[in-house]
Amino acid sequence: MSKPEAPKAASGSRRKPETEVVTAGRNPLAHHGAVNPPVYHVSTLIHPTMESLEKRSQPYAYGRRGSPTSQALQDAINQLEGGAGCVLTPSGYAAVTLALMSVAGSGDHVLVADNAYGPTRHFCDKTFSRFGVETTYYDPTIGSGIAELMRPNTRAVFCESPGSLTFEVQDIPAIAEAAHKRGAVVIADNTWASPLLFDAFAHGVDISLHAATKYIVGHSDAMLGTVTANAANWKQLRETHGNLGLCVGPDDVYLGQRGLRTLAVRLKQHQETALALALWLQKRSEVARVLYPALPLDPGHKLWRRDFKGASGLFGVVLKPVSRDAVAAMLDHMELFGMGWSWGGYESLIVPSHINRTARAFAAEGPVLRIHAGLEAFDDLIADLEAGFDRLNTTS
Ligand SMILES: Cc1ncc(COP(=O)(O)O)c(C=O)c1O
Repeated sequence: MSKPEAPKAASGSRRKPETEVVTAGRNPLAHHGAVNPPVYHVSTLIHPTMESLEKRSQPYAYGRRGSPTSQALQDAINQLEGGAGCVLTPSGYAAVTLALMSVAGSGDHVLVADNAYGPTRHFCDKTFSRFGVETTYYDPTIGSGIAELMRPNTRAVFCESPGSLTFEVQDIPAIAEAAHKRGAVVIADNTWASPLLFDAFAHGVDISLHAATKYIVGHSDAMLGTVTANAANWKQLRETHGNLGLCVGPDDVYLGQRGLRTLAVRLKQHQETALALALWLQKRSEVARVLYPALPLDPGHKLWRRDFKGASGLFGVVLKPVSRDAVAAMLDHMELFGMGWSWGGYESLIVPSHINRTARAFAAEGPVLRIHAGLEAFDDLIADLEAGFDRLNTTS
């Protein structure tokens, strides 16, 4: 697939992202006027002639390798990201492992941010290592200092910014400059920002991935991943995706494309509520600090302002020292904040974080919570948190 034309407004200027999420990957007149791309349930595609079968002259040859349904979402994400091509994976985790496997192989070395999503580390430690790839974890705030960790066989630098659980913002342009000088590929797990809040390719990323399960699907009802590459890395990504036999069922792809249409408006509300909650939490006597780069006093705020177009609804809260029982008393009876290992849906969530670091320890004053600000009314969420803190204080 070639790089799609950037969509143009009638005036000829580039359209705004809020418009692109609505229009990208849709062509109603090609589908009898249906607003949404139809869902093709397909494994087998019939070819009209032997010549067509042999020459693969139809756009789709076999369900695993794509259909108009998967193509519509790939085109939409690729257009939003400004890549050379996009593939879909059955989960965000599969997007992580695919991106890494498309770049590194036996005898190679990869650098992975110490604050990356836990299973990303598991893959490197337990599976990538079996295939002869060595991983070094690096301090996510390292910036251009990454140059010192590069080896002649370093093939990839994996970033996640802000990182899972601890929310440090990475200086991706500085990392990319150092990585590119030594011929390494920069992969970014861009799930927190979605394609709308961080322009990965403009900041030096070569392969941008999303756990679309989160904000793109947006309704906590499907697992999905996307991986988009620039021109230099697209061929290898596409080939690895095909060789691993990855594909996604059409109904889940459809939920991804449907969620995408409201992504911009949802993100605005997630950010507004998350910021208000973070400011409120900062003032609570039970809270040591809040980990959210949109807060002016956050250590990553300057970089976030420089590189991001906004913040999403996920952030961390470090409590002052308190017992596990007290935290359990708070979390067990929340009415609106559910306890679930995910985020990005319309609902608010709260979970205790278990932080596993090896490059640089994360010094927390007390237990760390991860909060996802959903789309409920702010006042109701505050009432739920206030009651939770009352239970915490009564128990401790
Ligand atoms: C930052 C990040 N990347 C990747 C994933 C994996 O996504 P999935 O759960 O769809 O496999 C997650 C899931 O929580 C995540 O938080």
